[in-house]
Order: sequence, then structure tokens, then C-alpha cells
Amino acid sequence: MNMASIGIFIFTLILTAGKASFVNVHCKTENMGQYGQQSLLECAVETSQGVTDVVIRTVSWKKEGVDEPLLVFHKEQTIKQPRYSFAEPSWNNRNMNVSLHITNTAVEDQGVYTCVVMTDRGGETSETRLKVTAKYSKPNISAESEKVTQSTGGTLVCNTVGGYPKGEIRWFGELNEDWTKSAKMEVKKTESGLFELSSKLTLLPGSTYSMYTCAVFNTSGGKEDETTFEVRDGQDASGRSGGEPGKPSVPATTIVAPLVVIGSLIVGLLGLILYRRRSIQARRFSATPLMSDHREVRTCESDAEEGGSREMDRGKTSQDTLA
Ligand SMILES: *[C@@H]1O[C@H](CO)[C@@H](O)[C@H](O)[C@H]1NC(C)=O
Ligand SMILES: *[C@@H]1O[C@H](CO)[C@@H](O)[C@H](O)[C@H]1NC(C)=O
Repeated sequence: MNMASIGIFIFTLILTAGKASFVNVHCKTENMGQYGQQSLLECAVETSQGVTDVVIRTVSWKKEGVDEPLLVFHKEQTIKQPRYSFAEPSWNNRNMNVSLHITNTAVEDQGVYTCVVMTDRGGETSETRLKVTAKYSKPNISAESEKVTQSTGGTLVCNTVGGYPKGEIRWFGELNEDWTKSAKMEVKKTESGLFELSSKLTLLPGSTYSMYTCAVFNTSGGKEDETTFEVRDGQDASGRSGGEPGKPSVPATTIVAPLVVIGSLIVGLLGLILYRRRSIQARRFSATPLMSDHREVRTCESDAEEGGSREMDRGKTSQDTLA
């Protein structure tokens, strides 16, 4: 029997299978399959009470959108396509478990399947659905340019491959704050139907933290995996990826920078005090009661030029002139 005649046979079977009978075919509404693994489409023939010794004459498994049947049992013979078989290892026509087994599940196996069963007591047709998932790989983070540091900023790129259905990449900072809005994600579909996700996170100079985590979430919002990237400060731009919770090394600059700031503040204050002392002394010498009006004006002008600590100088000057 060739495939075409099987097709015609099944067509007539579907027309007749709907008739009231003592047997029902019960299929699981939804089956889950993992990409590359084995999948099971569960269907069983159930008989009414008191009906025993049922013999199956025909079983036909078809997939919506595929012309040729995947598996047909007819006249004691099973004809099937390579990846399909009865789930029961030594199935025979008295075994009511007509579940279909699929090896090496692919994305395109996802869909609606029809199982037609005819027995010596009647038959039925039932439908079942297969959903396929594939886990995304552990995300990989790299610096787009070699120079990503806390002071310069830069762009981090996170990649994950081989997932299905479409998932999402999200970014988190060292305090677990969500940076996803600052990132751009790209989705690519590979030949096998799996998705490749890639996301670019732009880090601004001066507001870059020392650690960023890239996490991949599946379509139902469950976190699948994550990787953490350490942003170095200073010369060493090579980040370490690997997601170890580890201790972040404290860059030397974290200690040196405050010292430098405090140092320059002290130097600046000293300079200011010295400068004020000198200008006060200078004014004392030149101040005479007659010239006081003149001086007030002149001091204001020169204050504007001098810039620093005007208010205090002015206060002092008025006091000086009064004295
Ligand atoms: C049918 O057989 C398969 C394979 O042995 C098994 O995993 C499944 O649970 C069986 N289903 C029913 C409804 O008995
Ligand atoms: C999504 O991930 C969660 C957690 O890992 C898991 O429980 C769930 O089954 C996954 N859903 C899909 C559709 O992959």
C-alpha cells in the first residue's frame, strides 16, 4: 500500500470514526517536548464498561500541515516515518496505549496532532498538542571595545543562543537594580528555529558600577541562567565573566581618590587663609578715613575680579573701613 492510498483510506476513516461507538480515544490536551530530546504524545483507547477483548484494526497519527501520516498501523503492519514510533516498546493490536514517541524533537514538531483509531467495536479521532521548549545557553558577556572601565564607561554585549520560544535578556547592577531600559536587545532566528538573543548595555562615564549581571528569562518569565561581569577601574580593562559570586577586588583608586581630594582641599584652604591675611593687611595700610568711600567701590570691583570668597571679604572690608 502506498502513502496516497493510505491517505484516502484515512479520509474515509475520519468520516466513519465519528459514529457512536463503545470506544473512545483520550489524548492529553498538551504535551511538552524538549528540543533534541524525546517527546511523548499521550493517547489511550478507552472502552465502555463491559466491553472487553477489543482489537485495534487501525491507528493513524497525523500532524496538522503535514500531508503524509507519521505512523500508520493497518492490516497488522506498521508504516512510519523515521523519527516516530509507538511509545509502547512492543506495541500490539491489543494494547490500548497508542501514544506516539518522537525522537530528536525539533522546533517544527510543535503543533497539533491527530490520532485516529479504529477497532472491531468502532473508533474515534482525537487531537493533542505538542509544545517545544529549548533552554538558552549560559549568557556570555563581552566588552564591545577593549576599554570598558568605571571611569570611561563603554558598551557591554551579552549573548545567549539555542533557546525556544523567544526569551528576554535583562541587565542588573550590583545592587540588583534593573538596567534593562538602558539596553537594546536583538533577536535572531537560526535555521533550526531556535532563537539567539543579544543585548547591548551602554555604560556612561562616571556612573558605571563595578558589576553587571546579564540574565536570560524564558517566555513565561522564568529565569534560566545568568552571568556576571566585573568592570575594572583604571588601566585593567579585562572584565572577568563567569558568574562567580566572588569578592569584588577593591581597586587602589577607591582609596587613593579620597586622599587626593582631601589633600587638595587642605592645600586650597591654606592658600585661601594666607591670601586673605595678606589682603587684609594691605587694606589696613592704605585705609584712611577720607578715602573710605572710594575704597568701598574699589574693593567691590576688585572682588568681582578676584572671584573667591567675596562675601567674607566684603564683610571684613566694611569692618576695616569703619575702624
Ligand atoms: C503509554 O506508554 C508510555 C510509554 O510506555 C508511557 O510513558 C505512558 O505513561 C503510557 N500512557 C498511558 C495513558 O498509559
Ligand atoms: C521557564 O523557566 C522556569 C524556571 O526555570 C520553568 O519552571 C518553566 O518551565 C520555564 N517555562 C518555559 C516555557 O520554558
